[in-house]
Amino acid sequence: MSRRILVTSALPNANGPIHLGHMLEHVQTDIWVRFQRMRGHEVIYVCADDTHGTATMIRAEEEGVDAETLIEKMRLDHLQDFNGFNISYDNYYSTHSDENRYFSELIYNRLKDKDLIFTRSVEQLYDPEKNLFLADRFVVGECPKCGEPGEYGDNCEKCAATYDATELKNPRSVYSGAKPELRASDHYFFDLPQYTDFLKKWTRSGAVQPEVANKLSEWLDAGLKAWDISRDAPYFGFVIPGTTDKYFYVWMDAPIGYMASFKNYCDSSNEVVFDDFWSPDSTCEVHHFIGKDIINFHALFWPAVLDGSGFRPPTRVHTHGFITVNGTKMSKSRGTFINAADYLKFLDPEYLRYYYATKLNGSSDDLDINLEDFVQRVNSDLVGKVINIASRCAGFINKQFDGVLSDRLHDEDLWQQFINAEQTIADFYETDDTSKAVREITRLADLANQYIAQHEPWKLNKDPERREDLQLICSQAINMFRSLAIYLKPIMPEMAKKSEAFLNVAELQWFDLSTPLLGHTIGAFKSMLTRMEMKTVDQLVAASAQASSADAETDSAAPSAEVQDDKHITIDDFTKVQLKVARVIAAAPVDGADKLLQLTLDVGDHQRQVFSGIKAAYNAEDLVGRLTVVVANLAPRKMRFGVSEGMVLAAGPGGEDIFLLSPDSGARPGMDVS
Ligand code: MSP
Ligand code: ZN
Repeated sequence: MSRRILVTSALPNANGPIHLGHMLEHVQTDIWVRFQRMRGHEVIYVCADDTHGTATMIRAEEEGVDAETLIEKMRLDHLQDFNGFNISYDNYYSTHSDENRYFSELIYNRLKDKDLIFTRSVEQLYDPEKNLFLADRFVVGECPKCGEPGEYGDNCEKCAATYDATELKNPRSVYSGAKPELRASDHYFFDLPQYTDFLKKWTRSGAVQPEVANKLSEWLDAGLKAWDISRDAPYFGFVIPGTTDKYFYVWMDAPIGYMASFKNYCDSSNEVVFDDFWSPDSTCEVHHFIGKDIINFHALFWPAVLDGSGFRPPTRVHTHGFITVNGTKMSKSRGTFINAADYLKFLDPEYLRYYYATKLNGSSDDLDINLEDFVQRVNSDLVGKVINIASRCAGFINKQFDGVLSDRLHDEDLWQQFINAEQTIADFYETDDTSKAVREITRLADLANQYIAQHEPWKLNKDPERREDLQLICSQAINMFRSLAIYLKPIMPEMAKKSEAFLNVAELQWFDLSTPLLGHTIGAFKSMLTRMEMKTVDQLVAASAQASSADAETDSAAPSAEVQDDKHITIDDFTKVQLKVARVIAAAPVDGADKLLQLTLDVGDHQRQVFSGIKAAYNAEDLVGRLTVVVANLAPRKMRFGVSEGMVLAAGPGGEDIFLLSPDSGARPGMDVS
């Protein structure tokens, strides 16, 4: 029976580029989507950029553009990256849309009518310079348990303690460096505890993986708390109906963005009816693909909000783990924090799609990308095994038989093995266990290669008596190749396309597996994939490391996830840094930048221009003549205002207390610092 399925990937944040961690999710989703489509089901795959929140607002302010301009540029960048990896959305929208505003208000009003919303005063840290409330991640200070400095307001990276931002010692705003104040304001809450029984049932209904259900049970047993769904102005988002200065918390409207993107698709396609998929009695399916860090939003809040507002809950939430590279967290300095756009400059996206497929197993465990293994798997499985089957046999059919395949199979039993694997492989795809699907597919490829080795078509080619055998054996091999191309098509759509051209057939479908190509004329063989070179991977890693060092911006506002990844540098990293004494010979404020000074430095034998985020601490004039320490070998960085050729070091807690060397310290410009 044909299924009607709506599928989503989590909406990427609009405040950063797509990296290979995001791509894991979109590749996983896309494989599942393409598999379902090949099986003849109706699939609508939607996504969007997640645009709202303080981070977007601040970033737009810093870049001197309005938030709408910023998020639209981001959305197009993201879409380009996803297109580069062949992710087959039906719609890629934005949470900052009319549809999303409409559904957010509708859902909120319905929850309110059902007495699922209440207000309560909340005390929160407030940045008196920036005039805004600070989310936990935007406060840094000393861990209240172990005293580690530089920890965020939610948990300690060093001792793993969790706490409230208000417990941090010597807290500072990440935005301004100011000491936050405690202020009270009214917040709107969704009464989640009313949904405890509903959620206990839903999480055990097969809607999530067993280990995810266990995690959810822990939370449910510990007792749910009401969910704070509002944020105070200023905020980039939607105003809560009936208020003027309260906004929906970004995580309230983000999942509603799935519906909004779908609605936008329905309206433009005119074929699909929104309510068919979202009414409480819908017989259609809704599948969300997410990472393990956002389980609570998708498997607690979201089903409850949906039910409370008269919509159906998701059919399934598919949770994956996080990627590590070469056994550790993606790291900017090691060059393993790889952006999708950088990847595409060096490598074929199908390599990574395939490698991810060999790793994904339907669980929410983390997966390691080992770069040597990556090269090895692609070359040995795809080039060495699968494509090899076609490349060894196509020439004989084309040259000796005008491209025409035999009109019968040579080895029916062997063919039957390819057909018999169908249900097993389909089940693996259905349950996101592509690692086992790939294992089964490479087992079949081994059988095909053994068959060719055993029958040695290159020898038959020399024997005029055995022409018919030559055609039969090569035809059988090409048919086995075709089965493998079908089985791999959800993972490798480009290879499938090239295989379709080679086989001279229409778009391969899953049901084509049962009927071999007989008496059919194939096209010319061109290899579908080239071998991967480790040296290209090394180039990509080097380019990523370089890009990230140029990225480290003195005036960057929001803490990004990767800041934590690299808490420590090695002594090797440190010795790479060349420090020199420099004299400030000119200093001037920069038009349009709040925090920057443009410094002209005398570094002994030459002069340099550096932009430095120390305006808050100094009058430009006072700096002239003073000595400082400069990172002399920092890659030049193009900023909005010009090229910065180094970085000035200063010490102190920030704000007004930043120290430079004093003019009478005896240091001379150009001196090495050790
Ligand atoms: N905007 C929210 C999602 C809202 S959905 C209604 C968000 N955005 S995100 O950009 O931070 O992450 C998007 C997805 O990418 C999440 O599912 C997250 O788990 C996933 N990943 C981000 N980094 C990842 C890895 N390093 N590895 C695997 N997946 C990762 O969360
Ligand atoms: Zn600690």
